[in-house]
Amino acid sequence: MNVRKILCIGAGYVGGPTMAVIADKCPHIRVEVVDISAERIAQWNSDELPVYEPGLDDVVRRCRGRNLFFAVAREEAIPDADLVFVSVNTPTKDFGEGAGMAPDLQYLEKTARFLKPHLRDGAIVVEKSTVPVRTAEALSRILHEGQPDRHIPVLSNPEFLAEGTAIRDLMEPDRVLIGCEETAAGRAAAQALADVYRNWVPDERIVLSSVWSSELSKLTANAFLAQRISSINSISALCEVTQANVTEVSRAIGADARIGRRFLEAGVGFGGSCFRKDILDLAYICQRHGLAEVAAYWRSVVEMNDYQMERFARNVVARQFNTVAGKRLAVFGFAFKPGTNDTRDSPALYVCRKLLEERAALVITDPQALENAARDLHGLKGEIRYEPDPYAAAAGAHAVVLLTHWEEFRALDYERIYAAMEKPAAFFDGRNWLDPAMLYRIGFNVYPIGKAPLVHD
Ligand code: NAD
Ligand code: UGA
Repeated sequence: MNVRKILCIGAGYVGGPTMAVIADKCPHIRVEVVDISAERIAQWNSDELPVYEPGLDDVVRRCRGRNLFFAVAREEAIPDADLVFVSVNTPTKDFGEGAGMAPDLQYLEKTARFLKPHLRDGAIVVEKSTVPVRTAEALSRILHEGQPDRHIPVLSNPEFLAEGTAIRDLMEPDRVLIGCEETAAGRAAAQALADVYRNWVPDERIVLSSVWSSELSKLTANAFLAQRISSINSISALCEVTQANVTEVSRAIGADARIGRRFLEAGVGFGGSCFRKDILDLAYICQRHGLAEVAAYWRSVVEMNDYQMERFARNVVARQFNTVAGKRLAVFGFAFKPGTNDTRDSPALYVCRKLLEERAALVITDPQALENAARDLHGLKGEIRYEPDPYAAAAGAHAVVLLTHWEEFRALDYERIYAAMEKPAAFFDGRNWLDPAMLYRIGFNVYPIGKAPLVHD
């Protein structure tokens, strides 16, 4: 099939940027992205996009109104579509069976039911959302129920982009994974999708597999990445009590080509909307299949992450003479990583909640995520101020607590920051982002992750 029209359901962090890049690279294809949220669509059609991602504005500006369109979900767009991406959210369930572990698949199912009466025979449905292995089977059953003569192939095409580098990841992916049913029709559908990607992705980077392998590969990729972070974070705890230095350990082990350098940065813990959710999903699937030991193994990656965040928050209180009540603490960074305004499951949420419970007065600064931070912390008891200017945030504070390694924080004048703070002034570097020796020379007591603290007598 020659794909001419693409429809994407879900205009979020994945649907928006991914479709923008497809539209950019395939000017001959009309791409429409729809969402149930009229507010989100209005933002996509404005100059203030709902997603902050370096390079995204330029891509959207080039294509919007040409072959890229954002609209509130509407049935009339469905019959024309050759290919329909489903990119809706699949958060962890917070109710009923599997609460706290299983993904909530209601948005996916609603999408299938919304599409079903309007899809034309032969249209291809593509799972872009991250889903439990064998979800395509459920989607296919819903789409074919009562219409056995119709054929709508369901493909799995998980997304591997990371926030903050989404545009680069989409433009130059390590691989594009396409899972299909192992039938002639399934393989033809996979080829039609592969042809879309071939407009800019080299053939050898397009990997084909079965649908089940593709679905499971996505969960496994995230589990492996998160596992590396938990592994190095576990070692950071040991470094702190043995005078070893976790950065040196990372460098030493990462030089082994079999281990590799990436994803070995110790920190306050991993955040983001996916690592925790996808590992819990994986563990839940294992549990349901009676693989209790496998489930426990993967759950421990999340438990280690919880331990790291907790350990960090406890350390802040302990190093402040065991009380932060009434003390001003400047929180540097709220986004779960730099380069994004996304705060979903950010370690900052956890740490700030803990510090508020200890009655600290928080002043939070972040170059992109203050609006989301205010929404996330809304209603919590305690004193919180949101301050775009890091110098103003630190003025009068007893400590700086750095939780996101924004480049902007490296460029600050720390002599000036120190001078305006209460003394002794502490610096808790949850990302090992600044040179501890430099901060110590200025006068700070410095508490990095996985390294000996530098404390003035
Ligand atoms: P998101 O919450 O930002 O976006 C999902 C969008 O879907 C929302 O705007 C929501 O309103 C919309 N939606 C829900 N139900 C709908 C319906 N029935 N009809 C139309 N729109 C509907 O989520 P996201 O971060 O874009 O993630 C989407 C999926 O991609 C998830 O499964 C996630 O695990 C996966 N994923 C995310 C990332 C990431 O970096 N965020 C990366 C890879 C994969
Ligand atoms: C992650 C994966 O990297 C993507 O491949 C995947 O598509 C995506 O999840 C998803 O499925 O949503 P993302 O969460 O956007 O991407 O960002 P990462 O760069 O993976 O960072 C996740 C968290 O781990 C951040 O809080 C980051 O600060 C932390 N991290 C990362 C560390 O603490 N140490 C590291 O060495 C690397």
